[in-house]
Amino acid sequence: MLQLQDAFGRQLQYLRLSVTDRCNFRCAYCLPDGCPRGAGDEPLSVVEIERLVRAFAALGVWKVRLTGGEPTMRRDIPEIVRAVAGTPGVRRVGLTTNGYRLAGLATELRDAGLVSVNVSLDSLDPARFEEITGCSRLERIVAGVEAALSAGIPSVKVNVVLLRGMDDAELDRFLAWTRERPLAVRFIELMQTGENATFFREHHVRADEIRAGLERRGWSRLARDRNDGPAITYGHPAHAGKAGLIAPYTPGFCDACNRVRVSSTGDLKLCLFGERKIPLRPYLRSDALVRELMDVIRTGIAEKPASHLLDEGAPGGTPTLASIGG
Ligand code: GTP
Ligand code: 5AD
Ligand code: SF4
Repeated sequence: MLQLQDAFGRQLQYLRLSVTDRCNFRCAYCLPDGCPRGAGDEPLSVVEIERLVRAFAALGVWKVRLTGGEPTMRRDIPEIVRAVAGTPGVRRVGLTTNGYRLAGLATELRDAGLVSVNVSLDSLDPARFEEITGCSRLERIVAGVEAALSAGIPSVKVNVVLLRGMDDAELDRFLAWTRERPLAVRFIELMQTGENATFFREHHVRADEIRAGLERRGWSRLARDRNDGPAITYGHPAHAGKAGLIAPYTPGFCDACNRVRVSSTGDLKLCLFGERKIPLRPYLRSDALVRELMDVIRTGIAEKPASHLLDEGAPGGTPTLASIGG
């Protein structure tokens, strides 16, 4: 079996594929003014996605996460999940979503082969949620998470971006949700991108603050699984679920990087941050180009950078994470 390995010996087994750069939310740190002009450039078709994933799977990628923008903006999202899940070599298909359409889609997505769903939900307080996302329907997102659990999707995670103003009561509300449910709530340190510098300066909170809060409440760090990415997982004896920390400003964060990304228009991005883009779309025109596509991917991966250089103030060529699915 072929393996994708970068120049630092990291095995890349995980593809994050953005299926659209459009989004229906206006998160303050991401798209405060809504989708930019140009969003909606023709995204990869299901056939192009099939070819792309076939090439990555032939190179040893077995985990694919569909991201956006907001991936459920595409009406054919169940079809995309089915196509990716049916690709030989793919063992896990996940979706990262803002949850707005999840309640209506959970069963269909599960039937299509989805085994993991990560829902972005930054506050359980309706007013604060609306202030952050521009969406007044917090109850819809909570219902989406519950629907994913009820549908029996094996892994359901909630992503909470840490923002100044999040208080202890909020932390307790999120953790209480994991008491009875097999839900993982992960706290993500806000990252500076090309377009959110002012917001970042005013709202960035170090992950250490949450780490201390978890430890004070009796949560402890769990051993890493071989396939884990950069997230650190915490457990608690009285909770069925888990907590997690994604702390990109912590030294060594990128050492465990196991992923590459492809944009909705087919550009290979070697890191969340950085200018480098390798266009793959020209190789998705026919099945006959799959070998060439694999060569381009392999050559590209050799140039994956060691780290994101965020701590050196380098948001680089990534204006917002919506363009590359976080
Ligand atoms: P799993 O596939 O469930 O392991 O989840 P994940 O943590 O890889 O994916 P998810 O889409 O839930 O990512 C949560 C957030 O963590 C992303 O949107 C980013 O903000 C951040 N993140 C994920 N991967 C990376 C990464 O490689 N580098 C950095 N800096 N942040 C990342
Ligand atoms: N910093 C941290 N997380 C971010 N996300 C989007 N932009 C940022 C940022 N600047 C998160 C979303 C979602 C995931 C796809 O990325 O909240 O959980
Ligand atoms: Fe890997 Fe880049 Fe993410 Fe760092 S920021 S963990 S190098 S993809």
